[in-house]
Amino acid sequence: MKNFKRYTVTAALPYANGPKHIGHLAGAYIPSDVYVRYLRSAGKDVLFVCGSDEHGTAIPNQALKENTTSQAIIDKYHKLIYDCFKKLGIAFDIYHRTSEQIHHETSQEIFLTLYNKGLLTEEVSEQYYDDEANVFLADRYIVGTCPKCGNPNAYGDQCEKCGSTLSPRELINPKSTLTGKAPVLRETKHWYLPLQNYEGWLQEWILKEHADDWKANVYGQCKSWIDAGLQARAMTRDLDWGIKVPLPDAEGKVLYVWFDAPIGYVSATRAFFQEITSGKIKYAQPQREFKNAKADDWKTYWQDPETKLVHFIGKDNIVFHCIIFPIILKAHGEFILPDNVPANEFMNLEGDKMSTSRGWSIEMHEYIEDFPDKPDVLRYCLLANLPESKDSEFTWKDFQSRNNNELVAILGNFINRALVLTQKYFDNKVPARGTLQPVDEEVIRALKEHPRTIAASIEQYRFREATAGLMDLARLGNKYLAETEPWKVYKTDPARVGTILNIALQIAANLAIVGEVFLPFSAKKINAMLNLETKGWSDAGSDALLNPTHPLGAAALLFEKIEDDVIAKQLQKLHDKKKSMEPVTVDVAPLKPEVTFDDFSKLDIRVGKVLAAEKMEKSNKLLKLTIDTGVDKRTVLSGIAQHFSPEEMIGKQVTLIANLAPRKMMGIESQGMVLMAEDADGKLKLLQPSEAVFPGSVVS
Ligand code: MF3
Ligand code: ZN
Repeated sequence: MKNFKRYTVTAALPYANGPKHIGHLAGAYIPSDVYVRYLRSAGKDVLFVCGSDEHGTAIPNQALKENTTSQAIIDKYHKLIYDCFKKLGIAFDIYHRTSEQIHHETSQEIFLTLYNKGLLTEEVSEQYYDDEANVFLADRYIVGTCPKCGNPNAYGDQCEKCGSTLSPRELINPKSTLTGKAPVLRETKHWYLPLQNYEGWLQEWILKEHADDWKANVYGQCKSWIDAGLQARAMTRDLDWGIKVPLPDAEGKVLYVWFDAPIGYVSATRAFFQEITSGKIKYAQPQREFKNAKADDWKTYWQDPETKLVHFIGKDNIVFHCIIFPIILKAHGEFILPDNVPANEFMNLEGDKMSTSRGWSIEMHEYIEDFPDKPDVLRYCLLANLPESKDSEFTWKDFQSRNNNELVAILGNFINRALVLTQKYFDNKVPARGTLQPVDEEVIRALKEHPRTIAASIEQYRFREATAGLMDLARLGNKYLAETEPWKVYKTDPARVGTILNIALQIAANLAIVGEVFLPFSAKKINAMLNLETKGWSDAGSDALLNPTHPLGAAALLFEKIEDDVIAKQLQKLHDKKKSMEPVTVDVAPLKPEVTFDDFSKLDIRVGKVLAAEKMEKSNKLLKLTIDTGVDKRTVLSGIAQHFSPEEMIGKQVTLIANLAPRKMMGIESQGMVLMAEDADGKLKLLQPSEAVFPGSVVS
């Protein structure tokens, strides 16, 4: 394995078009955070970048849904998402935004470099166009049926149900999301990246060079893409939201979101060094010291072959990070390529696919609201169930049992016992160690081994295994106390208990070091209890982290039990949310028996105008209307008093059956019937011509 000097670690830039759920956390953000925390702890030169993906049709589409502007959408969700990441301990060095000027410039520069090198082709083609809204319909402005799985709500660029990457022309029954209309085809010019020209290179770089170190799920997806043959892909779109195409004849065109978004990693790095060297901090939050940093240092993190570039993503992003973005970087010529792209599969929720739009999700902000003091419990539960090689599942029951049976019963319990016993027998000071017995030597040997195996798992992107290693270390501590039984030995041999507790406390101190990578909030608490500064990974495995007589801090509970009712409440909440998002289904009245055309034409239906309206005495249902039918002015009684006031009826056009036999109600003769439509909720709506017509106009 190559030895790298520094690391650039990226986590997929979330679309700032809505909240993100715990499946996103499990896919990219928690694993990348653990990886980076480990590297930092090991003293490596690492930079961790992320930010909001604020372009693409997903943004204006959401603005349409929320009846607001694209700018308002990205401002709202950038903040929401970033706040959640912070509260969950995801420690980026910078969380940037693709709407920033520096990103627009960086993207345009890279586009122009490819263009000037003659690596983009210009093509006129037919694209879908909405001739009511007068715009071309890119990507998510079109929905239709997925040709692969039949999902009726697939987007023009992707089916979220089966994960296929699509082009708008593949959709069956395409519809514009703007007007709901079927789109028409129209010619337009775009700039394409001929992916097929890089096939040979990809075969070499991915299929040969990374055959052994890329994950099977990632490698497999790349292989099937390459084997299927690559095609030119448009890098521009007709859209008014995004980064302007930096060419003279490109009015109304922007860069394709998947061209600019990954470049966002580069822009974020640029912004980071600009901010920390100028002192004008806007997005940077350096998580370690960057000594002697210069504004230009972004280049070493992106262009020096001794930098290891790692992209953390979910599986729906594989083709963009393994094929398209690397081709862009390669074509540009000055950039390094990802050393690895440890993409995860999806995490399901309680037996079904997670989906914000269907309401079957636990959004980050929802979890934080309900469990503000438990970020580590979620981190742990997700880590223990990461969809590393296949889809996995989150259930509230598992959440409860991971918390109660592992965090509380194993980790929390061990730390608590080590501290409370020291408090009790040694005045809360680390006791000295006497002669070691075989059981002590054995546990010290195992203690040394654990951080090594955990580190190896992390370096191979096996975070489930690494997390299990952390819990095993706590188990080791519990087993040691159970075997040596200091509470029984004290009466006869207090010095022996000193040895045992000294070793137990060394294990606790190790749990703080290793734990900081997975459960940063709890690790901090352990350090406070041990009255210890945070130590780095180079100290992990040591049995001499705490000196005899070192005073400890106060013992506190690390985790608390989660009761059944809390879990039941969450399950209920999930089902309620899903229900509230379901489209209302209405019981539609069954069809009446057939009538002939002659039957129908006997009816005289025409449009009239309400001249006067008043409430009928002694009736809370009936309004007495005076209607100009074109042929006469007559009285019609209508059962609409609970839906319309007399005032709002006056002047309205209505449709009425004018030759219905007169009928007496409450002493007054009604000469006809006003037509109404009854909505699902029982509300009545007037039936009116779409534009005003002369009273007496016949309906046929
Ligand atoms: N916004 C994309 C998504 O949520 C991910 C973009 S990753 C980047 O699927 F590399 F393009 F930034
Ligand atoms: Zn599909």
